[in-house]
Amino acid sequence: MKNATEIAPADGRVGVLLVGLGAVSTTFIAGVLAIRKGIALPIGSLTQMGTIRLGKRTEGRSPTIKSFIPLASLDNLVFGGWDIFEDDCYTAAKTAGVLEPALLEQVRAELAAIKPMPAVFDQRYVKRLDGPNVKRGRNKRDLAEQVRADIRKFKADHRLDRLVLIWCGSTEIFMQESAAHADVASFDRALEENSPDIPSSMVYAYAALKEGVPYANAAPNLTADVPALLQLAAETNTPVAGKDLKTGQTLIKTIIAPGLKARLIGVNGWYSTNILGNRDGEVLDDPESFKTKEESKKSVLDYILQPDLYPELYKNLCHVVRINYYPPRGDNKEGWDNIDLVGWLGYPMQLKINFLCRDSILAAPIVLDLVLFLDLAHRAGLHGIQEWLSFYFKSPMHAKGLYPEHDLFIQLVKLKNTLRYLRGEELITHLGREYYD
Ligand SMILES: NC(=O)c1ccc[n+]([C@@H]2O[C@H](COP(=O)([O-])OP(=O)(O)OC[C@H]3O[C@@H](n4cnc5c(N)ncnc54)[C@H](O)[C@@H]3O)[C@@H](O)[C@H]2O)c1
Repeated sequence: MKNATEIAPADGRVGVLLVGLGAVSTTFIAGVLAIRKGIALPIGSLTQMGTIRLGKRTEGRSPTIKSFIPLASLDNLVFGGWDIFEDDCYTAAKTAGVLEPALLEQVRAELAAIKPMPAVFDQRYVKRLDGPNVKRGRNKRDLAEQVRADIRKFKADHRLDRLVLIWCGSTEIFMQESAAHADVASFDRALEENSPDIPSSMVYAYAALKEGVPYANAAPNLTADVPALLQLAAETNTPVAGKDLKTGQTLIKTIIAPGLKARLIGVNGWYSTNILGNRDGEVLDDPESFKTKEESKKSVLDYILQPDLYPELYKNLCHVVRINYYPPRGDNKEGWDNIDLVGWLGYPMQLKINFLCRDSILAAPIVLDLVLFLDLAHRAGLHGIQEWLSFYFKSPMHAKGLYPEHDLFIQLVKLKNTLRYLRGEELITHLGREYYD
């Protein structure tokens, strides 16, 4: 057994700052408040309900994750954030329409007390939105300094020991890495010069990393996934995770595709379509925001099925992803997948999946786990990209030259082995020879 990593204690108050207090954020906050009161269960959260096997199968050691590794208690989380709308979290949760009024009433006072700070926002990056609660500044550097001041003030006002910041804002337009993102010096210059290469989300990520606050990106935006911000994360010893929460159709895809590949069943086509009627759906109705999402959703199958290694099975795969904005559905997305399969001797088969899901209900436990695991990573001295958190993302951030791991089951092994490693427990390889020797 190796030595355990030194991990600072988990006690003390942890501030959770959310950029964007929309459907995902308010479902997460209201959920934690309800769970704290014992009204509901944290279903879907690994940190709250998951267990971890330790040692040999014959040892019968499977503690809960939260008793195995020191995680902040839900009672110690304090919520805040920014939004372009002035609605407090109770009003925003009502607008999002995800949770039943009866549940919201039981946490109303605490939700209503959370009021958004004015946002850094530029409609150039989210075409379908506009709102009044927006900061003004000389340039993007000035805006970043204002966000840093917000973070410090929130910490002082609430007497917090630590913080985590998560982008739960709308999906921005598709952007690619440019010279402005090459290193911290060029990024600093770009902020000063108000460069169009710095969207609002990057201003928040920069501010968080400058303050040494762990950062995660729940959306597919480029944001912290550029060399300059990763350099900044290294300089300030700050953990980073992203991008784009793995919920809904992509979650199912990364559950089904590894199974098909494991049995060497060919796939000729995978057609995925959705109807969605929340504000996220409205933003994604803009082709430039949809492009960001589409890129994130489409890469998944290529990496899981590895067409270069299995050309006869996957080389000609036609993968189409559509999202249709359909207001009557609200947050209750419906997804359809048609998968054209090829079996023994080339005989065709089909698999149809109809998933009536609730987007934010699937996303909220992920946000909770990211908060607690990023706080753990920080206390354990981990910094930069936290690849072990790939489990939660559609487009996992990864080191240059590596391909991202998309297979949900490999991602889970990686996550749990990281926890074992931090506690000095044997990693589990599933070899299992010892039972037969
Ligand atoms: N719900 C899911 O399952 C899921 C899964 C993966 C990714 N996401 C992503 O998470 C994000 C949030 O989703 P949602 O359903 O809560 O959307 P939403 O539209 O309900 O909430 C987003 C909020 O962000 C605010 N916002 C936008 N730009 C901002 C800025 N610059 N500063 C501050 N606030 C800003 C909007 O006003 C809005 O209130 C989206 O990007 C979505 O694509 C959601």
